[in-house]
Amino acid sequence: MSATPVTLIGLGPMGQAMVRTLLAAGHPVTVWNRTAHRADDVVAEGATLAASPADALAASELVILSLTDYQAMYDILGPAATALAGRTVVNLSSDTPDRAREAAAWAAGHGAHFVTGGVMVPAPMVGTGAAYAYYSGPRGVFEAHRPVLARLGAPRHLGEDAGLAQLMYLAHLDVFLTSLSALMHATALLGSAGITAAEAVSELMPTFTGIPAMLQAGEDIGPQIDAGEHPGHLSTVTMMGATADHIVAASGGAGVDLALPRAVQAHYRRAIADGRGKDNWTRIVDGIRTPRTAPAG
Ligand SMILES: NC(=O)c1ccc[n+]([C@@H]2O[C@H](COP(=O)([O-])OP(=O)(O)OC[C@H]3O[C@@H](n4cnc5c(N)ncnc54)[C@H](OP(=O)(O)O)[C@@H]3O)[C@@H](O)[C@H]2O)c1
Repeated sequence: MSATPVTLIGLGPMGQAMVRTLLAAGHPVTVWNRTAHRADDVVAEGATLAASPADALAASELVILSLTDYQAMYDILGPAATALAGRTVVNLSSDTPDRAREAAAWAAGHGAHFVTGGVMVPAPMVGTGAAYAYYSGPRGVFEAHRPVLARLGAPRHLGEDAGLAQLMYLAHLDVFLTSLSALMHATALLGSAGITAAEAVSELMPTFTGIPAMLQAGEDIGPQIDAGEHPGHLSTVTMMGATADHIVAASGGAGVDLALPRAVQAHYRRAIADGRGKDNWTRIVDGIRTPRTAPAG
């Protein structure tokens, strides 16, 4: 039996990696990209360049999108929307859960099935054993395409709600981006004392990479948070809050940006103000769940 044809729209680093992975697995792949020359390499490797988005939709029942955001999907597929009927669109672009839900309704309105997803590895790792991706949307539609999607990375279906996969993707990126900013903040802080970035990053790396082991050496924090338990015998809110105060003061003294340390400090101050100073540091989750001031969008 010949391999399922796939259309892939969007040829940034991620889209190109997915095309190569699908070609290597024997799938006929049709591509389209706004900037046509970005297709040159994958066409040389066996992909077929469609003349238009409508032609790209016509080429395969399964259409994968790898775009900067969901607006790009409307920009590309909006004028070709009549060609969506009967297609399954798997949008692997980043955006908010609400935009993913709106897009699912939009696609359904044009007679297309819609699955949203997020690939959890950088482009060079697509198709490797380390790759995995979250999906959400109609389970039957997802299951029908699971074998093809599994080429890209281990697929995990989270549920029918189109927003779920985006939420999980963004939750991962929340940890990732905040951690990267913390690493750069600490690098700038050390730089204020003449320590080079090369030295700083090297010194900081054990903390950066050691956090999982530190968490596992303590309690199993997830179930405890679910149970509303925050036993404070290791790292209390008060102790961590004092350190957060010191980081803000040191950053101010060093003249580096205060936004990130002040945000961290605010989590601990809120828990202390709520009378939770003796609890484990995980207690800060309560204040994050119920901010006192309305969150700005
Ligand atoms: N790169 C990674 O390692 C990685 C990892 C995980 C997830 N992701 C996600 O995967 C998606 C693609 O990533 P990427 O790195 O390949 O991104 P990228 O280099 O920014 O490529 C984005 C693609 O979107 C197209 N595009 C953007 N705006 C458009 C518009 N208004 N109309 C038409 N086309 C538009 C670009 O077309 P042009 O070529 O014409 O500009 C390009 O094909 C993103 O949502 C990203 O968050 C990426």
